[in-house]
Amino acid sequence: MTTSAYADIEDVAGDTPLVRLPRWEAAHHLSDIRIYAKLEQFNPGGSAKDRTAAALVADAQATKRLKPGTIVVESSSGNLGIALARQAILHDFEFHCVVDPRTNEATLALIQAYGGVLHPITEPDPVTHDWLTARRNKVQELLTEYPGSINLDQYSNQAAFTAHSEGTMSEIFDALNQAPTRVYVAVSTTGTVGGCLTEVQKRRAHTEVIAVDAEGSVLYGGQRGERLLPGYGAGVTTDLSQQRTPHHTRRVAATDAVDAARQLARTEAIIPGASGGAVMAALRADLDQLNPGDTVVVVLHDGGVAYTNTIYNDQWVEQNLRPTS
Ligand SMILES: Cc1ncc(COP(=O)(O)O)c(C=O)c1O
Repeated sequence: MTTSAYADIEDVAGDTPLVRLPRWEAAHHLSDIRIYAKLEQFNPGGSAKDRTAAALVADAQATKRLKPGTIVVESSSGNLGIALARQAILHDFEFHCVVDPRTNEATLALIQAYGGVLHPITEPDPVTHDWLTARRNKVQELLTEYPGSINLDQYSNQAAFTAHSEGTMSEIFDALNQAPTRVYVAVSTTGTVGGCLTEVQKRRAHTEVIAVDAEGSVLYGGQRGERLLPGYGAGVTTDLSQQRTPHHTRRVAATDAVDAARQLARTEAIIPGASGGAVMAALRADLDQLNPGDTVVVVLHDGGVAYTNTIYNDQWVEQNLRPTS
């Protein structure tokens, strides 16, 4: 084991641990099947979005859209907000974040702790009843209000694919020293899953990439409906989602995501966020499709600390999530 001294906090991002889940495997009576989790909560901002934010900022700097003092306006369900608020400090710009009421209190507090300015919206879009559409409309309003301000557009910016192809998925291949049989990835902008697909194709690997979506999300042909958990799923078809097609899509009910998140916390002492719970629930539902010798990777986008008042709180779950049966 080597320890390193880093010259800059920016050098710490990425290279997150890939950790086998032996207790979870045993709890599901798996033999000769290896399950690994890519723990994106180990990024300095606490999520995979540190990678995306760094790539969006580097791209905007390279094209000279982003200069010191520029106002950046973005919509986020939380994690990109935290990640961009950190980038604003490191690259000397001003960050304004449009958020909706589903974002965890702890996440909002963190964006502010990093100096980000919050613009909460209180109503979904009147036509589509979708929060994401309302957030994006508010971004357009603010871009008009602040002269010279820019939007990095995480929903269509290709830099996200590069971040997760050269980062997340390459790290998985390198750590395993082989191609995994399957990779499960939660989706929202679809930057992460698209980046994983890009790398799998580049390496001509046999890996199946499975998108884990929320019930009620319209991605990949889903039926619009109410979505109750932050982080994954989308109420609009993102540009990125039309550029890469996962091998399969799994839609997970919020109650199953919560149950699987809690199960992982109690079996492995790894506490995932809501989308990590969805990913574990999707894998749990697919276990009968796995074969001896398979190696499966679950990407856990963030940790559960910001969710202790929501998915890990019985009262919140009772009040906010209807039972599926
Ligand atoms: C917790 C969490 N999970 C999953 C995702 C989905 O990632 P992507 O936007 O790359 O599809 C996000 C994106 O914000 C997220 O914050």
